[in-house]
Amino acid sequence: MGNIGAAITGVSGYVPDYVLTNRELEQMVETNDEWIRSRTGISERRILKGEGMGSAYLGTQAVKALLEKTGTRPEEVDGLICATITPEMFFPSTANLICDNLGIRGAFSFDLAAACSGFLYALETGSNFIRAGNQKKIIVVGADKMSSIVNYNDRNTCILFGDGAGAVLLEASEGENIIKDTIIRSDGVGKDLIYIKGGGSAYPPTHETIELGYHHFFQDGRSVFKYAVKSMADVAVEIMKRNNLSGEDIAYLVPHQANMRIIEATANRMAVNMDKVTVNIQKYGNTTAATIPLCLWEWEDKFKKGDNIILAAFGGGFTWGSIYLKWAY
Ligand code: UT7
Repeated sequence: MGNIGAAITGVSGYVPDYVLTNRELEQMVETNDEWIRSRTGISERRILKGEGMGSAYLGTQAVKALLEKTGTRPEEVDGLICATITPEMFFPSTANLICDNLGIRGAFSFDLAAACSGFLYALETGSNFIRAGNQKKIIVVGADKMSSIVNYNDRNTCILFGDGAGAVLLEASEGENIIKDTIIRSDGVGKDLIYIKGGGSAYPPTHETIELGYHHFFQDGRSVFKYAVKSMADVAVEIMKRNNLSGEDIAYLVPHQANMRIIEATANRMAVNMDKVTVNIQKYGNTTAATIPLCLWEWEDKFKKGDNIILAAFGGGFTWGSIYLKWAY
């Protein structure tokens, strides 16, 4: 038996129906459509409405569609990993709740928190379970309800984010069209630049922490932007170099969708034309762990078997990384 690799054999996504437009945000904070589009590339984002509706709902919708389209029965799933920084609750894990909703019983399940790089971290983690030889089918989900942590009085951040989920099926394969190479990195230098201070064990929720807004997402956008532009491009170029890939060899770059200018700078450094870059930031904004699987889902019809695809992300922590894969179907 040859070396076992992990192949993506299916992909699905889910975004909620409610569309929050730039025009609506103009009524909420001092901003304007032109500023948002020119600085970020975002026109609208999706918001999950409804009491008690969280990331497990988003993830469940994506995984349900994935099981249906790949013809996978719940009992065939060996494990499910959910990348999220907006878990449904502290515990049980969102992954556990998604499994319960779909009748996936006895499979391992856990959440993984690596902010906007979460999907890449989870994809590599899932792939390693498969490479180890014991697991055959693993689902990797990215699900975030960013509207649950965004401060809709803060124009610096509320324009950026949306809610969504995407999921892939990973299967053992002895073929060539597998996840070929991964770089994932982190550096705590970002801890003061992008964070949620409260709600955890240091500052559990109290009236005071709520009044101070510790439960809200904070970002020093300008500083994060500088790190993001450099780190995401550096790591994508590094993975190309060590796999002897030129810009022309790459069928698609699938970047994290945080800012159109970061996406363009990364493509430029990689010498990849923008027509080979997946971009849906205009419709969904930044859905954190869901951006990359949502792009895979929307571009699935265009990908061809054997295509060289590069994923790249940067986010809170800081965390960042890149994955090189060959599309399997
Ligand atoms: O995915 C996780 C990682 N996160 C990222 O990668 C995000 C990285 N950062 C960014 O994408 C950008 O920094 C932002 C989109 C967040 C901001 O864009 P920017 O070009 O860096 O703007 P800025 O923060 O430097 O602000 C420029 C000006 C400021 O006014 P002054 O000080 O020049 O008078 C802001 O107060 O724009 C003002 N501003 C706004 N104006 C209208 C900030 N937010 C808004 C707004 N509408 N929503």
